[in-house]
Amino acid sequence: MSILIINARVVNASGESAAACDIRIDNGRIERMAPQISRNGEQIIDAVGKLVLPGFIDLHVHLREPGREDKETIATGSQAAVKGGFTSIFCMPNTTPAIDTAQVVQYILDQARKVGLVNVYPVGAITKGRAGVEITEMMDLRRAGCLGLSDDGRGLMNAGLMRRALEYARMSGLLIMQHCEDETLSNKGAMNESAVSTLLGLKGDPLVSETVIIARDIELARYLSARVHFMHISSARSVELIRRAKAEGVPVTCEATPHHFALTEDLVKTFNTAAKVNPPLRGWDDVAAIRAGLKDGTIDCIATDHAPHTQEDKEVEFDAAPPGLIGLETAFGLVVKELVNPGILTMAQVVERMSGAPARIMGLESKGVIAAGKDADIVIVDMNREWTVSREDTVSKSKNSPFLGQRLQGRVVATICGGRVVYEE
Ligand code: DOR
Repeated sequence: MSILIINARVVNASGESAAACDIRIDNGRIERMAPQISRNGEQIIDAVGKLVLPGFIDLHVHLREPGREDKETIATGSQAAVKGGFTSIFCMPNTTPAIDTAQVVQYILDQARKVGLVNVYPVGAITKGRAGVEITEMMDLRRAGCLGLSDDGRGLMNAGLMRRALEYARMSGLLIMQHCEDETLSNKGAMNESAVSTLLGLKGDPLVSETVIIARDIELARYLSARVHFMHISSARSVELIRRAKAEGVPVTCEATPHHFALTEDLVKTFNTAAKVNPPLRGWDDVAAIRAGLKDGTIDCIATDHAPHTQEDKEVEFDAAPPGLIGLETAFGLVVKELVNPGILTMAQVVERMSGAPARIMGLESKGVIAAGKDADIVIVDMNREWTVSREDTVSKSKNSPFLGQRLQGRVVATICGGRVVYEE
C-alpha cells in the first residue's frame, strides 16, 4: 500500500520547509518529496493546516511485559506510543524476568512484531537480574537485537563494574544508559529531600544521589573515551556537570522527561501518588535548569520514562507507592504547552530533541528525519488543538498520570510507522 501525504508542512531538526509539499511513501520508505506529486491510486492523507514531523523516538519506556501485564503489555504500550506520535520506543529491562538474556529479547521482539504498531527496541540489562553484581552476556544481547543496556530502576553503583561494563559495551557496540542513583544516598526516599519533604514528614532522596553518579561516570567516560547516556536527569547541578563535560569533549549524552520540565515537588503536597516518581520531582530552580538545558542542547533529548502502575499499586500511602507515571500520550502536548508556547524551543528544536537526537544516539541512521530514502516513520500534529487529559482518553492500560484534568495544546492526529498508518484520530 502506498501513501501520499499532500499539503505537508514538514519540520525537520534542520528547520521548517518554506512551502508545503507532497510526500510519497512506498514499501515502508519515503520515496519522493516534491511540490506536487501526481496521484497513482495511493491512500491520500491531507495534512493541510497541520505539521508533518519525523516520528518521535522515546529512549525510555516501561512496557512491563513479561511479568506485569496487569500494568501494561507490549500491545497496550504500543497503542499508547502511536497515539502519542512515537514510532520507535526503547523498552526498559526491569521486567520479570529482566531483559538479561537473548531469549527475553527475542520474546519481546516477537510480541512487538505481532502487535505491529511501533518499532520496539529492547534495552538489555547491564547486570544479571539487574542485581549490580555480574555483567550480562553483552555480545548475546547485541546479537539478539539490543542497541543499549541499562539497569534502569536501579543505578549501577559499583564503579569497577561500571568501568568493565563500559569497556565490554564498547566492544559489543552497545550504549550504556545509566539510571543515575546511588541508593546509599537516595535511601528509599519518597520525594525530593528539601524543606517540603521536612514539612510533609516524608523521607527525602537528595539530588546528590543523582549527581555523584553523574560526576563519577563523566570521569569514567573521560578516562576510557567511552560513551555514556544519562537517563531522566532531574537537577540543575546535573545539567551543569553535563554541560561542562560536553564542553570538555567527554562523550556523554542525556535525556530529561516531560514531568521534570513541567512539574515541581510542590505537587507532592497533595499526596497524589501519581506525583511519586524516581528520580523525584524537584524544585523550581531545577525545572528552570532542565528547560535551559533543553534549549541550549546540553540535554540531547526528551524521553518519557513512561512507567505504568495499576490503581491498586498506587492507591496506598505515599511512602509505599511504587514510583512512576505514564507519559507516552501526554509528552507532545506538554512539550507544546511548556516549551514551545513560552518560546523555549522552536518546532525544529522539538524535532531534534524528540526524533533527531535519539535516532543519532542509538545509531538509527534511517530514522529521525523526513527525507527521500529514509524510513516512513512520520507523525502529523495539529498545533492549534487544545485537549484535556482524561482517563477515558488514555489508551495505556494504567492511568497513573499527574496530568489528568490538565488542558494541553498540540495533538497528534496521525502516526505512520514503516509506511503504514498505525494511528488516526
Ligand atoms: O519512576 C520510575 N519508575 N523510575 C524508574 O526508574 C523506574 C520506573 C518504573 O519502572 O516504574
